[in-house]
Amino acid sequence: MPRDPSTELIHHAYRPPAGFDAPQPAVYKASTVIFPDVASMRARDWRNKQGYTYGLHGTPTTFLLEERIAALEGGRQCLLVPSGLAAIALVNQALLAQGDEVLLPDNAYGPSRELARTELTRWGVTHRLYDPLDAPALAAMIGPRTKLVWLEAPGSVTMEFPDLAGLVEAARSRGVTTALDNTWGAGVAFGGFDLGIDIVMQALTKFPSGGGDVLMGSVTTRDQALHEHIKLTHMHLGLGVAANDAELVLRSLATVQLRYHAQDAAGRELASWLARRPEVRRVLHPALEGAPGHAHWRATCTAAAGLFSVMFDERYSGAQVDRFVDALRLFRIGYSWAGPMSLVVPYELAAMRPDAARSRDHLRGHLVRFSLGLEAVADLQADIEQALEAAFGGVVSPT
Ligand SMILES: Cc1ncc(COP(=O)(O)O)c(C=O)c1O
Repeated sequence: MPRDPSTELIHHAYRPPAGFDAPQPAVYKASTVIFPDVASMRARDWRNKQGYTYGLHGTPTTFLLEERIAALEGGRQCLLVPSGLAAIALVNQALLAQGDEVLLPDNAYGPSRELARTELTRWGVTHRLYDPLDAPALAAMIGPRTKLVWLEAPGSVTMEFPDLAGLVEAARSRGVTTALDNTWGAGVAFGGFDLGIDIVMQALTKFPSGGGDVLMGSVTTRDQALHEHIKLTHMHLGLGVAANDAELVLRSLATVQLRYHAQDAAGRELASWLARRPEVRRVLHPALEGAPGHAHWRATCTAAAGLFSVMFDERYSGAQVDRFVDALRLFRIGYSWAGPMSLVVPYELAAMRPDAARSRDHLRGHLVRFSLGLEAVADLQADIEQALEAAFGGVVSPT
């Protein structure tokens, strides 16, 4: 008996020939994964990539992106999550339980500190902040309840580059797991696993996406048991990413090295120029001589992200600095970085990190963070020059 057309369309027998190959990977979308028989369904194994169980837990598209991110980071296994912040939360949730303590650098990504202050506290997990330039101080803080040490290189916004080797040694020698937020390094500037770090997460939202149009995070490991432990939490929480987002990151990943180095060159050129401007008290860019943690950056990295902060002199008012930011035309006001458009954000350090703003000399003044896009450096410099003139007026450039 001929089948109803609706049935026929859903169960149509045609299969395209196997063996199609192209430089671009295919995009597979599915919630249900079909098993050929009951035995295969019962034999499914979530621990490896030999097969598929359910769309949430992996498709050829997400497996491919996981493998490529693991390769970028120099790791062996990778999990994808819907944002960089979700990657931080996943690591915390997988590794911490009531009564545990987690240590965070005092310049950690703000929402990571907020997560510790709010959710982790509610679950009975305590946290303390450490000075990332002082490895012996971290060693002295580690106690029997310390289960995880977060690392970030450099710190968000204030850009101090930590003594990564010293911090990792302090944690490892005491048997404490380390997790690195490698969003700035992107797997290009340095290898987290080469330093002995256990877990490397990244906001793929930034460099691997590069388009400013995807939110995604990754958690990469080198140890199978640690990976399986985190993967179970990943499954319990129902985390996954959309195939079209994975496709966008796969497409951009081929150019991550080129974009990273282009933005690095542009960032260093503009940062060096700004450091010579009379309105500027200090430029916080880890690759610049004299920057906080510069020696650690030199010992660890072969490149730097196109991201830096500028401390405007205290003689200017906050309103004047806001006028400078408002006067910029090519640098647009907004969070995030590593996309094609240059961005700028003025930060209120006194509210964000009151202790540091009071006590650290390099943080005196008004902080504005610049992230370089892919525009021509000469145009970006001219944009900053006209905004300096509009906001601070009459100060003559020394160059
Ligand atoms: C250092 C760092 N880590 C994590 C994140 C979080 O990434 P996402 O925006 O994808 O949540 C960001 C975002 O700005 C970041 O700068």
